[in-house]
Amino acid sequence: MISRKHSEADGSGTTHFGFETVRVDEKAERIAEVFDAVSAKYDMMNDVMSLGTHRLVKWYAIQASNIKPGSRVLDIAAGTGDLSRLISRRVGPQGIVIHSDINEQMLKAARVRLSKADIPENMTFLQADAEDLQFEDNSFDAVTIGYGIRNFTNKDQALREILRVLKPGGQLTIIEFSRPTSRPLQMMADAYSRLWPTFGQILVGNGKPYRYLVESIKMHPDQETFKSMMQNAGYAHVTYENLMGGIAALHIGLKPQVQP
Ligand SMILES: C[S@@+](CC[C@H](N)C(=O)[O-])C[C@H]1O[C@@H](n2cnc3c(N)ncnc32)[C@H](O)[C@@H]1O
Repeated sequence: MISRKHSEADGSGTTHFGFETVRVDEKAERIAEVFDAVSAKYDMMNDVMSLGTHRLVKWYAIQASNIKPGSRVLDIAAGTGDLSRLISRRVGPQGIVIHSDINEQMLKAARVRLSKADIPENMTFLQADAEDLQFEDNSFDAVTIGYGIRNFTNKDQALREILRVLKPGGQLTIIEFSRPTSRPLQMMADAYSRLWPTFGQILVGNGKPYRYLVESIKMHPDQETFKSMMQNAGYAHVTYENLMGGIAALHIGLKPQVQP
């Protein structure tokens, strides 16, 4: 069982949980409640909320991830395994993928889902907090995070931890919701996402976690701000690509070959 303690997000002792301000030590607990509540219907709701587009975005992210046969890869906040399954196929029998998530219920949902098609032999499940990784320095060729980082209490700490466990030259690939680049698209995306709590209420019997998901997207730093956060954490060659007009963004950074 991972302890739900967390480091300071800033000097104030508070952070945001959606639009709410909460104590730093409270956020992980609140996030756990969200994902405990959504885990059983996570995949179905993902398809509904994204109109299926999350599948294409994830596929595209793995094409851009520089993961090769034989790579050793850590998928963080792996949820029910959309990315880790794609990675498993890509690294092949000589490679390794560690499917990690902080939430027991999400890990359980992943095991149930993946066992239907036989859990790949190159995949290991691990309960792990992105902000406090239990690996030695320079352990991985690549790290991936799909739609996870906006939920972390201290994103800067997680970015530093990931840099530590990446091998020099290793790549961090992140997909996350971002800011649509045109006003009409922003308005359309806002209007559609406002329906998510209603979908949650109808399809899962609980709209509250989906209200948090909508708010958390709004609170996540925009593309340029997040790029600066990656640079400040010490990544080199930091780039981002807007996907679906900026509804999502693909962020990439490399661990420098020589540490400053
Ligand atoms: C929206 S889901 C994304 C799951 C999956 N990567 C996908 O793309 O479908 C976000 C995941 O982040 C996990 N998470 C939240 N905070 C975390 C943390 N500090 N460390 C690791 N995982 C975390 C949650 O448990 C949840 O499974």
